[in-house]
Parts: sequence; C-alpha cells; structure tokens
Amino acid sequence: MEGTVFALMTRNSEPPRTQAAPRQAPAWPLLADLGPLGALPTVLPLARAFTGLVLGGWGLASLTEDNGLIISEFTSNVVRAATGPDGQPRYDVHGRLPVLWLRLSSDRARLWLEVCDNLAPELGVPAERQAAATDETGRGLELVSALSQDWGWEVLPGNEVKRVWAVMA
Ligand SMILES: Nc1ncnc2c1ncn2[C@@H]1O[C@H](COP(=O)(O)OP(=O)(O)O)[C@@H](O)[C@H]1O
Ligand SMILES: [Mg+2]
Repeated sequence: MEGTVFALMTRNSEPPRTQAAPRQAPAWPLLADLGPLGALPTVLPLARAFTGLVLGGWGLASLTEDNGLIISEFTSNVVRAATGPDGQPRYDVHGRLPVLWLRLSSDRARLWLEVCDNLAPELGVPAERQAAATDETGRGLELVSALSQDWGWEVLPGNEVKRVWAVMA
C-alpha cells in the first residue's frame, strides 16, 4: 500500500514516535484494510459492512456486534471532526476532503481495530468524557473503554496522520 498511511506501519518498522505511549500495531496473521475514504457520513455504513464482511470471512462473525460498534464510534468521531458547523466537509486549503482509513487485524483470539485520519490536530483529539445522565453525546469513547481490552490514539511519524485503536479480546 505504498503511498498510504499504512506504508508507515510496516511490521519491521520502528514503533511510532508519539507524544503518548506508542503502541505498535501487532503483527497478527489476519489483516484487512480499507481506504482512503472521504470522511463523510456515508462512510459509516460502509465501515460497518466492511467489519462484518471481514470478520465473517475470518470465521469470527459472532464478534461483529461489539467490533462493529467500536469501528462505528471511531469512524463517526472522525466524520464529526471533519464536518464544519454548516454541515459541510472541512475541505483543506487545497480543496481536498479529509480522509480516513480502517484496519482490522486478528490472531483469531484478539482483534486490533484502528481508524486513521488526516485531520489537523486543531480540529480535536480523542478525549474520553464523563457524560452526565442527561447528555446526548460524549459516551462513544467511554463505551470503547468499557468494551475493549485496551485502546489509545497517537499521531504517526510525519505528524499528518492520527490513529485511534482498540484491542478486543
Ligand atoms: N478522531 C477524532 N478526531 C478528533 N477528535 C476526536 C476524535 N475522536 C474523538 N474526538 C474527540 O473526543 C470527544 C469524545 O468522543 P466521544 O466519547 O466519542 O463522544 P462524542 O463523539 O459523542 O462527542 C469528541 O467530542 C471529540 O472532541
Ligand atoms: Mg463519538
């Protein structure tokens, strides 16, 4: 996948240099990725369908519900950050759409889920909130934290790509 973010994450490369504790993507035998995709609302059903198809193909269809939920949360967070207050995509100075990538990996016991985006950091970074009972939003990452064995995010070398990941067991 030369020319994409995944070229930065080859299995023999050094762990990413980040401000947070870096987490190298695991070298698990099952691997599927999709992207770049425009960070538009239409990507949500696609991300979910991709997750279901991939897990089904790996014989892990029973894990689709929780994993599809995590992928949906990560993807919808990117789409929200990529959308301006007028509801239009935040095109960059060159008129390009923000994009995202999905990657799923498994050793058949665990799953690594990741969503990368190329949004500028000033558009926000993942931050788990303590949603009040009456809040309608702010629970996505809380849910990710509850469902996953571990999760995190980092900026990849080059500072142009942010990666949010979760390990599901
Ligand atoms: N990929 C992302 N890019 C930028 N900001 C993000 C991203 N993911 C999460 N965030 C930030 O983290 C906050 C909390 O996310 P979440 O718990 O999913 O709640 P919600 O999406 O309902 O606001 C978001 O409001 C947003 O500010
Ligand atoms: Mg969310």
